[in-house]
Amino acid sequence: MSSRHLLSIRDLTSEDAITLLDSASAFWELSRRSIKKAPTLRGKTIINLFFENSTRTRTSFELAGKRLSADVINISVQSSSAKKGESLRDTVATLDAMHPDVCVIRHGASGAPGFVAERVNAAVVNAGDGLHEHPTQALLDAFTIRQAKGDLEGLKIAICGDVAHSRVARSGTLLFQKLGASVRLAGPRTMLPPQPESLGAEVFDRIEPALEGADVVMMLRIQQERLAGTYFATLREYAREFGLNSTRLELAKRDAIVMHPGPLNRGIEINDDVADSDRAVILNQVEAGVAVRMAVLYRLAGGGEARL
Ligand code: CP
Repeated sequence: MSSRHLLSIRDLTSEDAITLLDSASAFWELSRRSIKKAPTLRGKTIINLFFENSTRTRTSFELAGKRLSADVINISVQSSSAKKGESLRDTVATLDAMHPDVCVIRHGASGAPGFVAERVNAAVVNAGDGLHEHPTQALLDAFTIRQAKGDLEGLKIAICGDVAHSRVARSGTLLFQKLGASVRLAGPRTMLPPQPESLGAEVFDRIEPALEGADVVMMLRIQQERLAGTYFATLREYAREFGLNSTRLELAKRDAIVMHPGPLNRGIEINDDVADSDRAVILNQVEAGVAVRMAVLYRLAGGGEARL
């Protein structure tokens, strides 16, 4: 990889991304074996530092490190000295003094992993920072799309919902375009980024034109914890205008897949009839998360020959 850290999809060339996705395939297979462990990162130390809640990302980074035989330490802000007022700068300097090889960080402030990367010797992985980026989510989504469609080249990918507050949408848009797909972003005007054209995607303030002929439909979570003001009248109205149900999904290609980064707000951005259908690949995304994070840790921790 051209960069020592993974802070943004912008750190990856398309060749880097394809190499990671290809190596994730081997790690995906390893995770399906009865013995899900390789000695690749034995002797390496990974610190997972989470300042925001997480189920999928935190668990999958932990599993990824352990399946590669690294020593994995999980720190959540609730149980750290950050609760006593320690600054992020002092927290990471303290942890870096223990010589970890990789520090995985989730933080509510956009740019926090970049701030950390400038101050530590460890390689830093952004596990989601504020409204900025979630690069490993984009990689696991690309992995899942490749599993279903073979390749992203030429695909039409609709990303629908609260685009403005979504680091998943930002990283996904950057990566999917890098891999040859065209991206459509759809949401209420209040939930579209201020300069959407800077992302290079088509933008719609209704969901229907974004769904038409789409190969992939990715629904975004309504992030109630980040909505400082009122972005739509009621959840019921949002669900009526922007929720994905099986009738709306008929606008997409017959073999279109449905994705969601989770956690789901069922009945708001996605209905049960879609989320639980065989078009949904939501749990495939979760499975891909472990494999892709193994590939990222393997690259950044400088593992030797991958012996699976
Ligand atoms: N997709 C995602 O980042 O989920 P978590 O918040 O559960 O990690």
